[in-house]
Amino acid sequence: MKVLSVVLICTILSACHGYRILGVFPFNGKSHFMMFEHLMKSLARKGHQVDVISTFPLKKPYPNYNDMIVLPAERQFMNNLTYVEIDTMFRDSVVSVVATLAGNLVCEHLNNPQIQELIKNPPKDPSYDVIIMEVFGAHCFAILGDILKVPVIGASSAVLYPWIYDFIGNPENFAFVPSNLLSYSQNMNFWERMHNFLSIVSSKWQFSSLSSEQTDIVRKYISSDAPDIRQLEKKMSMIFVNSHISINGIKDMTPAYIEVGGLHVQEEGVELPASLEKWMNESTHGFVYFSFGSMVKIESFPIKHINIFYNSLGKISPVRVLMKIAKSNELPPGLPKNVHVLPWIPQVKVLKHKNVKAFITHGGLMGTQEAIHYGVPMIGMPLFADQFINIANYMRHNIAIELELETLTEEKMDNALNAILNDPKYRNTAQKLSQKFRDRPLSAEDTAVYWTEYIIRHGENALRSPAMNLTWWQIELLDVYAFFLIAALAVLYLIATAIPFVYNLATNPDSGSLKKKVS
Ligand SMILES: *[C@@H]1O[C@H](CO)[C@@H](O)[C@H](O)[C@H]1NC(C)=O
Ligand SMILES: *[C@@H]1O[C@H](CO)[C@@H](O)[C@H](O)[C@H]1NC(C)=O
Ligand SMILES: *[C@@H]1O[C@H](CO)[C@@H](O)[C@H](O)[C@H]1NC(C)=O
Repeated sequence: MKVLSVVLICTILSACHGYRILGVFPFNGKSHFMMFEHLMKSLARKGHQVDVISTFPLKKPYPNYNDMIVLPAERQFMNNLTYVEIDTMFRDSVVSVVATLAGNLVCEHLNNPQIQELIKNPPKDPSYDVIIMEVFGAHCFAILGDILKVPVIGASSAVLYPWIYDFIGNPENFAFVPSNLLSYSQNMNFWERMHNFLSIVSSKWQFSSLSSEQTDIVRKYISSDAPDIRQLEKKMSMIFVNSHISINGIKDMTPAYIEVGGLHVQEEGVELPASLEKWMNESTHGFVYFSFGSMVKIESFPIKHINIFYNSLGKISPVRVLMKIAKSNELPPGLPKNVHVLPWIPQVKVLKHKNVKAFITHGGLMGTQEAIHYGVPMIGMPLFADQFINIANYMRHNIAIELELETLTEEKMDNALNAILNDPKYRNTAQKLSQKFRDRPLSAEDTAVYWTEYIIRHGENALRSPAMNLTWWQIELLDVYAFFLIAALAVLYLIATAIPFVYNLATNPDSGSLKKKVS
């Protein structure tokens, strides 16, 4: 209430002036932008003026939120990712997709005329106080911090990728924090720890070599004496990360690593069509919600899979199914009667509904966090990227059952549906995890707003770790160990040479004495 009245007074009287914040989110990933949109709206609600560069202009105007530059999308992914494309797109490793398609290619936007105009004539009335940008593949945009002379804050819509730790000097916990490109738990055996270590080191190396051309891109479009991309990455004063201890576990975090997991789970502005609400209300035996997210088209899956879906889902009647299908005319015939298909679904409203029994998902972080927030158990069919570790993690929490698409059979799907609908274990643990996920000193939104203002008030170095001034081998104390080792070896050597000498002296008292020569 207090916050609300402050905001009201601010907006009505324009008495307290907020800060001016530039949001830079040029990568065309809808699910990523969900977090950034809510982050920027949270700041706008607190009375700050936010200007956003993205490929996703708001559908409805929002107070204090300005879609300053709308970039052309290099490719439309929304409702446009088929089964075959998933296969070809991720035939290369995830790291190379992130570094090139979501990295170097996105950096070409630095040449966009509107961005060039912003660089040449940055606004002065008022000028910016801080930049918030995505950390993922395209970190070339950190150059804007140099140009506008303001701190840069990073935001990651995923659990932190291995190559981002260095940006803020976060300790790497190879022994008990699995890379989010693998599917290990936090309790790894010897071989898993070795694999985890090698995987993290190699993905960092791969990202670094593939993205090094961003230095040239910045120098080509901005200034020939611009810093190296590795230095630009280290401009980040702080990083907001979409993770939370209740789901992602305990790890070492420098204060610049700020967890805001589930920030995007917001109902504000999400409209629930009356017809859908009526359908959910009338699903008195409950319903299962089935969606593969904003990009993937279930209707493009091989007929083999579609038939399994149809047969299994038909059998759970009178429990109903709500399925997100962008183009229902592309669905093969034979959809069971208990399945209701819609091209777009207000997901938070559906997952919040009292009749929803389970969520069949591809394991995308955004949607699964929404399910956790509302305590809905899941059946996961991971397709790409971090979806495998997400589902593996939720299985360990006992809130999900995994179905591998490659080996999917009707029987396996029947069993999974049967277990998730009838074994109370899944629902109970999902409800408990929901409480733990939401139990925080400050909401994700208020956390993000607080720390953004903190950096503006106290400057870009306020949370900078001294580890940033050291090399990796200094942080690991390898130089100190090496010194001890050499010192120990030297002592051993001295002892080893001294022993025969002393022994000689003892057995042959005359040897080495000058007397002999004289006499
Ligand atoms: C959808 O994806 C195809 C590639 O499969 C691409 O050629 C097409 O341009 C995309 N559609 C849009 C609207 O971008
Ligand atoms: C659905 O049920 C809720 C709560 O029982 C009720 O408030 C709402 O009006 C119902 N909506 C429709 C469209 O029937
Ligand atoms: C890094 O070293 C410089 C020079 O000694 C010092 O001014 C700076 O404060 C150090 N940075 C941190 C984060 O400690």
